Amino acid sequence: MFRPCILALLSLLLNFIPTWAKNFTNPVFYADYPDNDISLGPDGAYYYSASNFHYSPGAPILRSWDLVNWEPVGHSIPRLDFGDGYDLPATGQRAYRYGTWASTLRYRKSNKTWYWMGCTNFWNNWVFTAASAEGPWSYAAYLGGGDCYYDSGLLIDDKDDMYIVYGNGQIKVAQLAADGLSQVKTQPVFKASDAGVEYMEGSRMYQINGTYYILNDQPGSTAFVWKSESPWGPYEHKVLVKDVTSPVAAGSSPHQGSLIQTADGAWYFMSFTWAYPSGRMPVLAPIKWEADGFPSFVKGDNGGWGKSYPLPLPAKAVKPLTGTYRFEGPALGPTFEWNHNPDTSKFSVNKGLVLQTASVTTDLYSARNTLTHRIFGEFPVGTVEIDFTSMADGDRSGFGAFRDRSAYIGIHREGNNYSIVAAHNMTQDEYSGETLDFGRVVESVPVREGVRKIWFRAELDARAIGSRDANFSYSYDGRKFVRLGETYELYTGWAFFLGYRFAFINYATKALGGSVKITTFTSS
Ligand SMILES: *[C@@H]1O[C@H](CO)[C@@H](O)[C@H](O)[C@H]1NC(C)=O
Ligand SMILES: *[C@@H]1O[C@H](CO)[C@@H](O)[C@H](O)[C@H]1NC(C)=O
Ligand SMILES: *[C@@H]1O[C@H](CO)[C@@H](O)[C@H](O)[C@H]1NC(C)=O
Ligand SMILES: *[C@@H]1O[C@H](CO)[C@@H](O)[C@H](O)[C@H]1NC(C)=O
Ligand SMILES: *[C@@H]1O[C@H](CO)[C@@H](O)[C@H](O)[C@H]1NC(C)=O
Ligand SMILES: *[C@@H]1O[C@H](CO)[C@@H](O)[C@H](O)[C@H]1NC(C)=O
Repeated sequence: MFRPCILALLSLLLNFIPTWAKNFTNPVFYADYPDNDISLGPDGAYYYSASNFHYSPGAPILRSWDLVNWEPVGHSIPRLDFGDGYDLPATGQRAYRYGTWASTLRYRKSNKTWYWMGCTNFWNNWVFTAASAEGPWSYAAYLGGGDCYYDSGLLIDDKDDMYIVYGNGQIKVAQLAADGLSQVKTQPVFKASDAGVEYMEGSRMYQINGTYYILNDQPGSTAFVWKSESPWGPYEHKVLVKDVTSPVAAGSSPHQGSLIQTADGAWYFMSFTWAYPSGRMPVLAPIKWEADGFPSFVKGDNGGWGKSYPLPLPAKAVKPLTGTYRFEGPALGPTFEWNHNPDTSKFSVNKGLVLQTASVTTDLYSARNTLTHRIFGEFPVGTVEIDFTSMADGDRSGFGAFRDRSAYIGIHREGNNYSIVAAHNMTQDEYSGETLDFGRVVESVPVREGVRKIWFRAELDARAIGSRDANFSYSYDGRKFVRLGETYELYTGWAFFLGYRFAFINYATKALGGSVKITTFTSS
């Protein structure tokens, strides 16, 4: 009797929330999906392509109906088949910081095909296509090497001609063949010094009322808009945003991103702000078109990139970004990504995720089949339940905070000794990816006699202005958690290009054959 009454009252109240209160807040979500390229799909939803470098599958895609509530739906690149390094070889070059970065995604109405294009290190251009953004995606063409489609933007204009803008410093436009699967010609169109800056990247291309536009930026500070009657120029330019206050405390001035039109003709700029240890998070703001044919930026109450603006469209809920996974199978969902390509013979998803060891190593960064999941929010918490009955002698398994400096809590087995360990400071050179430090066990306790199931928890303060640290704990019952190890200081360098993630770690130091089973994972 009582509850329905409250619900009725609530819904009555909700209907009376005035329009002015229907704002969204920046960042639109607190997670690392950098280099957004956003465009409209055939279903009226917006699709957001992002960079994920050496994580596999590559080039994640999110979907939204309102530009504010986003849901991961797939990846454009099923497997990073761009060279041996992507399979994380035991020796030799690894693909840290390679893979996908600032690539582009568009739907082509004329043949009902989604196109992903981009340049991967070192320096090759690729096309992947799909009938649906959710996939399946497949390799479609190699567009050559050398002249890299560095930070590219695909345009399919009103004549169905396909152009791609790209370059750093010198910006070029290439025209593609009718099927989009080869390049017909390419031409320089303008350079950074034409705007009085030393460097320029992050280009996207649009056609608006017949006029060609290029959005790009000087890294760190300024977004420019360029306009021309022809894709080949000449282009004139104006500044859209320069050195604005970020809506995220200690975040960088947003500058790179996408221009988006809503069905009612309003326009928005989705950019992103750099705020490590989390990474690069999307921020949205309205723009207005001026009489001279250039857009101007709409400042927020803070005089910069607003923390809050009116919703662009009626809010439409999507699947929440956080929640509990039980690994029902048969596949992992789009929120999971492997560190480099996985050895697919060494895991299975069927009412639990079984990770068999896939490498014999003492270097976490050379261990294949480390599974990752983004952290969401300012205070992300991850909890896993692990059955380690089938661990082999010498195996190391755990759950941690992963990037170029990592830490985890886990089980190390030596002979018949099973220890719960906190391991810190596994460190890479942030530019070369070379391992500098295998890390060290900072605290260890024996596993309670006969127990083969345990819960691990990682709690982070991922705010750029926060304590920027992580605490790890374990539990025998999933309720009472015991801290292990000192507080781990999260690293805030940008050069790895990606922020911290949760990671499920499982590798051998002696011989393959062991496995662990993860039965639940909660990300909150
Ligand atoms: C449309 O895309 C498909 C898939 O890439 C391609 O095979 C086909 O040639 C394209 N059709 C046209 C008319 O461009
Ligand atoms: C495009 O043209 C339409 C119709 O003339 C006009 O309403 C709209 O403002 C124009 N959009 C831009 C971005 O110039
Ligand atoms: C909504 O956004 C507008 C424009 O940025 C701002 O002036 C207003 O204060 C915001 N309202 C709320 C309730 O945050
Ligand atoms: C197992 O632990 C015992 C007691 O600490 C120790 O004496 C023994 O060396 C350990 N065995 C291995 C293989 O580490
Ligand atoms: C972490 O590793 C780096 C690189 O080897 C080293 O310089 C640093 O001293 C280590 N820090 C700790 C606390 O072990
Ligand atoms: C980690 O623990 C330390 C010491 O108890 C505390 O100051 C810090 O706020 C904690 N951080 C998180 C993210 O829980």
